This record gives sequence, C-alpha cells and structure tokens, in this order.
Amino acid sequence: MISKQRERALVTGASSGIGREIARVLGAQGCDLVITARRRAPLEALAEELASAHGIEVKVVISDLTDEVGVENVIKESDEVDILVNNAGFGFMGQHANLDQAGQLNMIDLNVRALTHLARHYSAVMKARGSGRILNVASVAGYQPGPNMAVYCATKAYVLSYTRALHAELKRSKVSVTALCPGFVATGFQEVAGIEFGKLEMAGAVPASSVAKAAVKAMRRGRREVIPGWMNKGLPLLVRMTPVRLQLPVVGRLLS
Ligand SMILES: NC(=O)c1ccc[n+]([C@@H]2O[C@H](COP(=O)([O-])OP(=O)(O)OC[C@H]3O[C@@H](n4cnc5c(N)ncnc54)[C@H](OP(=O)(O)O)[C@@H]3O)[C@@H](O)[C@H]2O)c1
Repeated sequence: MISKQRERALVTGASSGIGREIARVLGAQGCDLVITARRRAPLEALAEELASAHGIEVKVVISDLTDEVGVENVIKESDEVDILVNNAGFGFMGQHANLDQAGQLNMIDLNVRALTHLARHYSAVMKARGSGRILNVASVAGYQPGPNMAVYCATKAYVLSYTRALHAELKRSKVSVTALCPGFVATGFQEVAGIEFGKLEMAGAVPASSVAKAAVKAMRRGRREVIPGWMNKGLPLLVRMTPVRLQLPVVGRLLS
C-alpha cells in the first residue's frame, strides 16, 4: 500500500532506457512510484534500488500494455496518481510492406491505444481533482513522416498532436500535459527496432539520464513539449521550412 502524503507517479516502460531514468529522477525527488513493464527482474531491481536510496515506496506491476486487460490491470493496481508518465513504446525499422503485420498493429496498440487509454483515464481523474501532471513520450520522429519507419513515425505524430491538444484543453484545470520528444538515445529501443547507430546518430545521441532530467523539469514547469539536446532543438523549425517532397527522401535515407 503506497502512502498518501507523498506525490505518486505511474511510469510505464520503466524496465529499461528512458522510463527507468525518469523513474530514477522522480524517485530522487521523493515520489512514491508505480513502475510497470513486462519484465519482472529489471523492475524489481529498480524498485529495490530506489526504495533503499530514497526511502520511497515502489510498487511493481507486470503488464503487457498491448492488451486492453493489461492496461486495465495497471489502472486497478495504481489507484490514484499525481503524475502519469506514458513512456512505454517501441518501433520497427523497415519497409512497411515487408514488416510483420502483427508487430505493426501491436506498435499502434502500445504507442497509441494504451497511451490514450491511460491519459484519458487519468486526465479525467486529475481534472476532477484540479491537479496532476501527464508526460507523454513522443519523439522527434513525430514532426515529419518517416519512410522506413512509417508506422512508428505516425504513432509519434499522433502522440505529439494528441498531447498538444490535451495541453490546451486541460490548462485551466491545473493539469499539465507535456510531450517529450527525444532524438537518438542509446537504449533497448535500437535492438528491438533493428537499428544500428552510425557515426551521425552517435554524435547526436543524448544520454537517457539527461533526457529524463530535461523531461521531468519540463513536466514540472507545465511546458507543452520538450526536445532534449541542442542538436535536436532546431528540427521542428527545419521541418516547417522544408517541403514534404524534400523531407521524404532525406528522412528515408536517415532511417535506412
Ligand atoms: N531511444 C530512442 O532513440 C528514442 C527516441 C525517441 C523516442 N523514444 C521513445 O522513448 C520511449 C522509451 O523507449 P526507450 O528508448 O527507453 O526504449 P527501451 O529501452 O526499449 O524501453 C521501452 C520500454 O517499454 C516497455 N514495453 C515494450 N513493450 C511493452 C509492452 N507490450 N507492454 C508494456 N511495456 C512494454 C519495455 O519493457 P518490457 O520489455 O519489460 O515490457 C521498456 O521498459 C518509447 O516510447 C520510444 O518510442 C525513444
């Protein structure tokens, strides 16, 4: 049972990468945590680490969020939260027609459907309460279409658009909604996606711990969106200035 005096945060996809680092930042700030993913061992190791380092309570919930029952289970086990970090997500690289059908649909279930389910549920609770924070993990991939990662980029465009709209809708209710838009970050993501980091990506990569710090800072300030890493910050402007017919071959080459 998690204590009621401290802030409580639910972090999805906390078993590795950016989600694990966001849990570490929130834990260091004294938040009690509900951390969820499918893999038990890394979640339990993180729970032990954070509970003993910061004297907080950490609950581990094992759930597959591509499954509606898994999402409902996380909601049931989490109870009320002050902060929702909608981070779990994955991508696959390759030509859409060559990629496995089930994998592409699972990606939409996790990156879009589960994220929306959790944000809808908690935004209603937070709005009624008059306080709360939601951090949705989008990507710089959401600013433009991405040949060779078509579905992934489209899911992140959804997250970005959805978050911007929620940010505006909930502003007066004292509920902040922030989109985190990282560029390249070395995590478990690349192995799942089938991406090999080249020299360009390595040069621009931002450590997951820095991404997490920037994300939590922006979330606490109620910012609409945050792009960690100075090399990534100019991207939205560059995209707006570039015709789509030019964006497509450039992004397609970057993602090949
Ligand atoms: N790394 C990058 O370059 C980058 C850039 C921009 C945006 N992002 C976004 O950042 C977020 C975190 O990714 P990451 O880079 O930290 O990758 P990661 O290290 O692979 O972490 C992904 C997390 O999502 C969880 N997850 C995957 N499938 C799940 C499922 N079906 N149900 C529940 N949880 C699931 C994983 O846990 P289990 O495997 O234990 O379930 C893991 O904790 C994603 O939304 C990603 O799109 C990443």
